[in-house]
Amino acid sequence: MRVVRSIRTMQRLVSQAKRSGKRVGFVPTMGALHDGHRSLLRRCRRENDLAVLSIFVNPKQFGLREDFAKYPRREHDDKKLAKKEKVDIMFVPSVKEMYPEGYLTYIEVEKMTQFLCGRSRPGHFKGVTTVVGKLLNIVTPDVLYLGQKDAQQAAVLKRMARDLNFPVAVRVCPTVREADGLAMSSRNQYLPAGQRREAAVLYRALREARQGVAAGNRSSAGIAGGIRSRIGRESSGRIDYIECVDADTILPLKRIQGKTIIALAVWFGKTRLIDNIIVRT
Ligand code: PAJ
Repeated sequence: MRVVRSIRTMQRLVSQAKRSGKRVGFVPTMGALHDGHRSLLRRCRRENDLAVLSIFVNPKQFGLREDFAKYPRREHDDKKLAKKEKVDIMFVPSVKEMYPEGYLTYIEVEKMTQFLCGRSRPGHFKGVTTVVGKLLNIVTPDVLYLGQKDAQQAAVLKRMARDLNFPVAVRVCPTVREADGLAMSSRNQYLPAGQRREAAVLYRALREARQGVAAGNRSSAGIAGGIRSRIGRESSGRIDYIECVDADTILPLKRIQGKTIIALAVWFGKTRLIDNIIVRT
């Protein structure tokens, strides 16, 4: 496995691979890799000739009071894991390499970034689309692998690729969970033991919501209310949002209909966790 830090080298290696007819798969991450990332890497490895992983803690997607400085950075461990998963190239650019002085250009997807995480984290998705747009231009993959854990992010990036004609297929992979159901996240390690135990309520509440939908409950407010009260009963979590949205447009639904994402963000102490499930009616 090669560790590449320069954009020029990355571009050179991929264009060589493509000239020899190789299919290129790409998994962008912010590192501190866990089994969720690993599932994306495995699928990428399986489906492509050249598997590229990027690790870049992107300052532009963190708000001023967010955790950019304390976000876990584990390049040594990440490298070991990437090697084990037979990644070909691990691309680890510096902030200066990605955003040299005088950087001025941004990508913004409208409307679908105004709800859910977009509402509580203004500017977040602009940072995400900008960095992924840049990474797609650098890596020029045939296939991009994203996780359902970040459902809104996946929907927004799919839309960006479509709207801006990035010649890439987007694959969204299922959420990988801990034994108690908590969605894996690099941020879980911020949680002290008590909050970590409590956080399992999120998936219990989402599963209960799925049963509610299966039993015929179609009211978004009713479903969200059920989730809210379960979280309130079983934890000290503070709710940021609980919403039922259309899976493709990410626009809020009054009534659950078709492919719907039930998504939530909840604070445990200083840590904000997100999770979601897809339901189909
Ligand atoms: P990061 O949080 O490191 O996640 C990288 C990829 O792994 C994302 O596509 C995310 O949805 C996926 N992922 C994270 N946890 C997962 C889980 N438990 N199961 C399945 N997939 C999971 O998301 C980002 O980084 C950044 O915003 C990025 C897209 C790299 C842009 O900076």
